[in-house]
Amino acid sequence: MSRIIAVANQKGGVGKTTTTVILGSGLAAQGYNTLLADLDSQGHICHMLNLPKSGGVKRWFYDEEPLDQLIVKARPNLWVLPGDKTTERVIGKIRDESYGEEAFAEMLKEQTKAFDVILLDLAPSLSNLQVAALIASQYILIPTRLRFTDLDGVQEVMRSLQQIARHGHKPRDYFILPTFFDRVANETVTRLRELVAAFGSHVWPPVVQDIKVAEAPGHGLTLWEHAPSCNALLGYPNGNGQRVGGYAHALERLAVLMEGLD
Ligand SMILES: Nc1ncnc2c1ncn2[C@@H]1O[C@H](COP(=O)(O)OP(=O)(O)O)[C@@H](O)[C@H]1O
Ligand SMILES: [Mg+2]
Repeated sequence: MSRIIAVANQKGGVGKTTTTVILGSGLAAQGYNTLLADLDSQGHICHMLNLPKSGGVKRWFYDEEPLDQLIVKARPNLWVLPGDKTTERVIGKIRDESYGEEAFAEMLKEQTKAFDVILLDLAPSLSNLQVAALIASQYILIPTRLRFTDLDGVQEVMRSLQQIARHGHKPRDYFILPTFFDRVANETVTRLRELVAAFGSHVWPPVVQDIKVAEAPGHGLTLWEHAPSCNALLGYPNGNGQRVGGYAHALERLAVLMEGLD
């Protein structure tokens, strides 16, 4: 059975697209047939994977073209449904239909069954497309930076999830992935403690700020290809010979979800 995971935060620049591409390419390398759907009209997924942007999302939902003719292969087992500014038309169609969010969610679930996992990269805004994507998903992954001004982005996603639950949808399981962690900066350490105090085990170990993350797309490479032993992937050394956090750890947790029973 396929799993749909939304990567959501109404704030920009917190690592949503980065997380989608790194975890998606990691799952694909483990043999999971993976689809990355770019639901942000900025089309950053294609940019990060060095693929041409196109209006795949609009052609799929608005023009009802078959999904298999719109997806693009990025790596073995890794497919992308590209987006661009035409994705805004999808938002209009969802708004104009009654139960448009549910219709989008049903169509997505129905037509992506051939994949083991579908990661939805969401825009930094709350539109009915975001709501539709949250309804379609079993799990919500919320990357967040660790500055004071960033933490209300997590609260906004929580409010969206509560709103969906009030409309009769089953509560979604959510996970918070702290990004841009810097263990020598008091600010990020304090904010991480606050997050854990508020959300407990929903908070995954952090990913450090690491220049390798920002460099990889410029080389047309995923982080696994560009810097397979960097701290953002393998975690930061904690002084006791152990490594903490990192995308490889987040990937292990996702793989557990993939194998879990429904
Ligand atoms: N852990 C990290 N360390 C350093 N730079 C990062 C990290 N995560 C993301 N970035 C960079 O930050 C910028 C914003 O990330 P992005 O994934 O596009 O955020 P969002 O999709 O939430 O807007 C990108 O240039 C990306 O390369
Ligand atoms: Mg993005």
